[in-house]
Amino acid sequence: MMHDIHSHIIYGVDDGAENLQQSLNMLDAAKAAGIDRIYATPHMRSKDADVESIYDHFACLHQYAADRKIDLRLGFEYNIQAIDNDSFESAKDYTLAGTDILLLEMPFTLWPPFWENIIYRLQGLQLRIIIAHPERYEPIQKNPGIIKILADMGCFFQCNASSVVKGSFKKNKVIRHLCKVGKLDFVASDAHSIYEYELYKKAVQKLSGKQNYLTIEDIIN
Ligand SMILES: [Fe+2]
Repeated sequence: MMHDIHSHIIYGVDDGAENLQQSLNMLDAAKAAGIDRIYATPHMRSKDADVESIYDHFACLHQYAADRKIDLRLGFEYNIQAIDNDSFESAKDYTLAGTDILLLEMPFTLWPPFWENIIYRLQGLQLRIIIAHPERYEPIQKNPGIIKILADMGCFFQCNASSVVKGSFKKNKVIRHLCKVGKLDFVASDAHSIYEYELYKKAVQKLSGKQNYLTIEDIIN
């Protein structure tokens, strides 16, 4: 049973799949990589994002996925900059498939001041946080101590399969650190195309036996 918790498989809503055919090709590639559950997680980078198309295209894709014996669920990759300060609780609308889990994307270079407070406030809404691809953020690459801060706050970490297989030295440094402290909680495809599903398979092989990574189901209960 392999579950992919981060994927841009819904067509026409972000920089992932461009059309239905590409989504279908990605479903086939995911199946070939041994995945049987996918949390589709389109980017949510602004509070004004077009959520209607996301729901529509997800509904279209759902049956195709079921035909391939893939359990496709709707989530989001919620960027900390999409928070609506006038309606902070709306973050709860963007969890992984209606769970209490938020896949949180941070900015790649400059993090907002008081980012810890923002995360605390999200946790105050009874949300649990998975940090999407920590290895890609410059602040963490420069200061892996941030991992301890986030881990102490109770955050989980999700690395990208592509980083595990062919990451730069900087990305690898972060991944090695996460492995060392036992916090490489999830490996996901972050697929924007079929290519990342090929890498996913390789990443799982590379990590097998070395790391006990989780499925969402491990932490829901
Ligand atoms: Fe992503």
